Amino acid sequence: MSREKGVESAVAHFRGLLEDQLRRVDRISASEDWMDYSDCSPLIIGICLGDGIGPEISRQAQRVLEHVLSEDVSNGRVTFQVIDGLTIENRIEHMKAIPEDVLAKLKQCHVILKGPTTTPQKGDGMPNIESANVAMRRELDLFACVRPVKVPEKDIDWIFFRENTEGAYVLGSQGIDVEGCSFDFKVVTEPGAERIIRMAFEYAKTNRRKRVTVITKSNVVKTTDGRFSEVAKRIAKEYEGIDCDEWYIDIMTAKLLDPNRRSDFEVMVMPNLYGDILTDEASQIQGGVGTAGSANIGKRWAMFEAVHGSAPRMVQEGRAEYADPSSMIKAGSMLLRHIGQPDSADRIERALEVCALYEKNIQLTGRSTGCTGAEFADYVMSWIDRPDLNQVWEQYQATD
Ligand code: IPM
Ligand code: MG
Repeated sequence: MSREKGVESAVAHFRGLLEDQLRRVDRISASEDWMDYSDCSPLIIGICLGDGIGPEISRQAQRVLEHVLSEDVSNGRVTFQVIDGLTIENRIEHMKAIPEDVLAKLKQCHVILKGPTTTPQKGDGMPNIESANVAMRRELDLFACVRPVKVPEKDIDWIFFRENTEGAYVLGSQGIDVEGCSFDFKVVTEPGAERIIRMAFEYAKTNRRKRVTVITKSNVVKTTDGRFSEVAKRIAKEYEGIDCDEWYIDIMTAKLLDPNRRSDFEVMVMPNLYGDILTDEASQIQGGVGTAGSANIGKRWAMFEAVHGSAPRMVQEGRAEYADPSSMIKAGSMLLRHIGQPDSADRIERALEVCALYEKNIQLTGRSTGCTGAEFADYVMSWIDRPDLNQVWEQYQATD
């Protein structure tokens, strides 16, 4: 292709992207109100097992959810819908991030518990299919990725609000290559930034937090991060009594490791890729990515998943049944909180903490030297059922 042709086709490609994004902005601005889950009868919980260690750990989380929701299931208020087909094999067969029939089934659910799915990477021999997470977040407009991280003994109680449908991700599979010159695009829109920043401030207000920290690199990435930062400053003015400060992503990654400063951070809000990186770092401080759950929230649907990936290596080495289901069980508790069942969510989280952090009668090691994920889920359920759960949990908290 001549240089001129290459440039022309790149410009035409960019025009298409820009028009798509402008239409998306219109849709965000016109979007409907929040779904009221108390109106749904039955409330449908979709279970997507994913691939790699996904099926193993998702099944354990499903068992825990079924256990705590058994009454709602038997009286027909809640129903579970297992959705097959979100495996890398099926996605390659259809050459789609999410095959059409799978997407249609997802849309019939109200909330979804999703196991990890493999994302092909350039050069790994798989076709260049978009990440199923990224596609699902976009297709269901799950704009808020909410990731709490708590380490009580280090006085850490953070909650991250990661923008989930824009930034470096939204066009991550639609870059341009002309004669060895590669471009990717990063998109931040006014209503897109506003809705996630507002959600962070609303959270701070409802939960009596005094500070919202905005994370960007707006000194260098001036247009997109600059907009994110400007929108944050505008919205902050509406929230009296809540301080708003802005930190650059580089120093922020350092400050999360600073024992003298990190406890001061409370609510953090940031564009997509910074949130991706920072929440892995934060989960590691909590005990590893296997310990963290993630909520992907939109006005109509919500999806709950682990922070980590599908760990194909564990499957190749025959260790899938020893994978830690904690992150998926935690995702399940976030799902319960979202559908208005905070007491059951608390029980799951407390039981998880007693089993994984305090009592530790059986332990996962990721291999046959420890217990299996199913045994661990049984252990967690036995604590969920114990009448003295809250009392024991409080005692452990006090002796921390
Ligand atoms: C996450 C994951 C995903 C992301 C991957 C699997 C595409 O790392 O949920 O943080 O980058 O968002
Ligand atoms: Mg990530």
